[in-house]
Amino acid sequence: MSRVRLGLAGVGELGSFHAQNLTRRVALADLVRVVDQSEEAARATGNRLGVDWSTSYGDILDDDSIRGVVIASSTSTHSGLIQEAAAAGKHVFTEKPIALELQATVDAIEAARSAGVKLQVGFHRRFDPDFEEVARRVHAGDVGDIYFLRLAHRDMTPPIPGTYLANMGHLFVDATIHDFDTVLWLGGGVKEVAAYGASVVDPQFAKTGDADHAVVIVRLAAGGLCVIDNSRSAGYGYECALELIGSSAAARISNGRQGQLEWLSTGETRAALPSDHTTRHPLAYVRELDAFVRTIRDDAPSPVPSERGLEAFQLTQLALHSLREGRPMSADGLIRSGDATGEPARDVPSAHPA
Ligand SMILES: NC(=O)c1ccc[n+]([C@@H]2O[C@H](COP(=O)([O-])OP(=O)(O)OC[C@H]3O[C@@H](n4cnc5c(N)ncnc54)[C@H](O)[C@@H]3O)[C@@H](O)[C@H]2O)c1
Repeated sequence: MSRVRLGLAGVGELGSFHAQNLTRRVALADLVRVVDQSEEAARATGNRLGVDWSTSYGDILDDDSIRGVVIASSTSTHSGLIQEAAAAGKHVFTEKPIALELQATVDAIEAARSAGVKLQVGFHRRFDPDFEEVARRVHAGDVGDIYFLRLAHRDMTPPIPGTYLANMGHLFVDATIHDFDTVLWLGGGVKEVAAYGASVVDPQFAKTGDADHAVVIVRLAAGGLCVIDNSRSAGYGYECALELIGSSAAARISNGRQGQLEWLSTGETRAALPSDHTTRHPLAYVRELDAFVRTIRDDAPSPVPSERGLEAFQLTQLALHSLREGRPMSADGLIRSGDATGEPARDVPSAHPA
């Protein structure tokens, strides 16, 4: 069983978590180098995990033994790093979104395509066992026609506004993109998007043109309706939940608790909640990297190819348009979902225990 040597760029909050998963939980991966523009960040993660580290991305690209790169740097850097990796013949797993602008998204996809390298997008929810099972049942026809889909996706605490918008993008691009991908995955094509946003947590979000809360209504091409609600500051914890009502069955994925302990006292019950995306979906983050490594080893099609990133990104732009124009926007002719048009089912191996 051959192992796959990887490099990782960007070891901030999520990149250091990916690095830890790659060294401890993804059986076929050999993480040989982490890089970050911050020497402190690169050194801290490299030393903690016993992996070579440096501040130069070129150190990954120049290493012929490295077959793939995991990109978890600030979003504004993704497209350039993807194009450089493609030119060096490395397969790429990139965190979402592929870029902050449409042209940069297309450029990255084209670079990977013409270099013949894989470009997997970090839509981790597709590897969450509950979401995966709902998708399997939807695609098998068990739900029937989708009447209504509700997605709740909320962060516990907001990011520090400042340069966040320039580095990571508007709420729709940074967070709602996961929900748009879920809508396309489960619901197929989209007909219309109506988006509403509010900046009620920190006036800085409003000043920079961002939002900290949003509701997005999506009309599915097949006729059903979808409501997405996002918060950057839910306070009580991190939430990612789903409710789906169909003509044959309904499904619900509740947010879940952190651990199994329930504390009961007169008239109330208490349980811990997930505080962020990594505690809400720990297995999904391992499984998406496991799948990336296996597609390199087996030269198999990517389970979340770059087109999925482009489609979801287009919906973020439509939502922004709707927010700014104050009216629903038609998606006619814009979105084609491979999932809805009979994309073959993928085979994702189970994760390996810690
Ligand atoms: N899939 C998910 O659930 C999920 C969750 C959180 C973040 N993300 C994505 O992951 C990415 C990183 O987010 P984060 O929260 O870890 O951000 P972060 O700010 O904590 O970390 C970003 C890191 O990238 C480094 N960096 C910036 N430019 C670089 C460059 N050119 N080369 C190398 N390193 C560079 C920074 O120094 C920093 O250490 C973002 O694209 C974000 O959208 C995805």
